[in-house]
Amino acid sequence: MNYGTQTQRQIFTNGMMGKKPPIPLHYTHLKSQAQAKLTAEQFAYIDGGAGQGRTIRANEKGFEKYPLKASMMKASSNINLEVSILGHKYASPILAAPIGVLEMAHPSADIGVAKACKTMKTPMIFSSQASFSMEKCAAVMDDSPRWFQLYWSKSDELVQSFLSRAESCKCDAIVVTLDTTRLGWRPRDLELGYLPFLRGLGLAHYYSDPVFQYLVNQNMNNDNLQDEGKNTISFSGLCNLIRLCNKYPGSFRSNLITGRALTAVRTFTNIYMRPELKWGDLIRLRKMTNLPIVVKGVQTLEDVHMAEQSGVDGVIVSNHGGRQIDGGVAAIHCLRSIAQEYSGHMSILFDSGIRSGADVIKALALGADAVLVGRPYVYALAIAGETGVETLFRHYLAELELQMSLMGISSIKEINSDVLY
Ligand SMILES: Cc1cc2nc3c(=O)[nH]c(=O)nc-3n(C[C@H](O)[C@H](O)[C@H](O)COP(=O)(O)O)c2cc1C
Repeated sequence: MNYGTQTQRQIFTNGMMGKKPPIPLHYTHLKSQAQAKLTAEQFAYIDGGAGQGRTIRANEKGFEKYPLKASMMKASSNINLEVSILGHKYASPILAAPIGVLEMAHPSADIGVAKACKTMKTPMIFSSQASFSMEKCAAVMDDSPRWFQLYWSKSDELVQSFLSRAESCKCDAIVVTLDTTRLGWRPRDLELGYLPFLRGLGLAHYYSDPVFQYLVNQNMNNDNLQDEGKNTISFSGLCNLIRLCNKYPGSFRSNLITGRALTAVRTFTNIYMRPELKWGDLIRLRKMTNLPIVVKGVQTLEDVHMAEQSGVDGVIVSNHGGRQIDGGVAAIHCLRSIAQEYSGHMSILFDSGIRSGADVIKALALGADAVLVGRPYVYALAIAGETGVETLFRHYLAELELQMSLMGISSIKEINSDVLY
């Protein structure tokens, strides 16, 4: 692999022809260019987080506590970025985090990301709240690696159906997100009164699922549910209802007249999260799938201990990019102690605040086996669709490779706490 010099050379050669890269390289520029492309609601949903945004700021600032050390005269011309996670070989230690409602960023949404991930050999984690079904994404990915992220629904039958579909889509692992058994308090979305799911966005897996459709059928005859919100409808409510009926499978007319599109969204809001989820449920999950299970959103040694006891194969140290708890600790500060205790026993991944190839090295040095990139690729998608995402991952790999070379590191295996001060 030679992303570093090749990418750099390409960018400078294009520059000679007056051509700029399709997306900015600095995170601040990436974010502001994406903001210009998005509506206030879309940008707030992607950029925002819990409360006053203190955990988001802590996540990014946290990386400054771990300066990198460079050793001279050790560089190799051939840098090996390969890693092995849960028995699978991947081209690099970077995965695309599960991100819901990608259609808010770009119409190509998950399909654009899936194609970019395939080109860059980046494993993609399909979100439960996808805009395109996992089958449609898998269809454009050939053998490119993919995982499935699960929000554990109130309906175990639906969970089982999602798991079976993920197996059929040849996912390598199931990621169960533990930190979002309820939606965090997100003032920026609340100020705008905007929750995409209520508008039928991010529901592709549900709409395409036979168990979900069975639940909608049942609710079509449920008077309590049908009576919900039977008050006068405003102009904006009417516009949203029209959009909802357009998005729902089947004919617009029948979706509107029967009220099925609205019932589907109500069915979703009634079942999509299970606040009373317990560690014991993971033992049940173990029996529901043969795929490796990774839990996402753990931050403490106690929780990793419980995860191990529950038979999971890996953890993602994460605080959901600061979207759930305000005033929390930077996720990067949680990594070292967890890795010291559990590295080698289970796979340890990390997300929340990765903004560059250099950040990837820091997370690996603190003990992560691999990292998930979140918001940066969503902004790249907003700016330039599939090309934007592909370019973002190319830039991250280029920087990672160059930094490793300049620090005297030849392979991911060599990255450990010795590369930190
Ligand atoms: C717009 C948006 C949607 C997200 N949707 C999901 C999701 O559906 N499932 C999930 O487990 N995490 C979701 N996450 C969290 C990411 O997987 C990841 O933990 C987070 O983005 C990492 O923080 P960072 O983006 O600041 O690096 C979402 C994050 C954002 C920004």
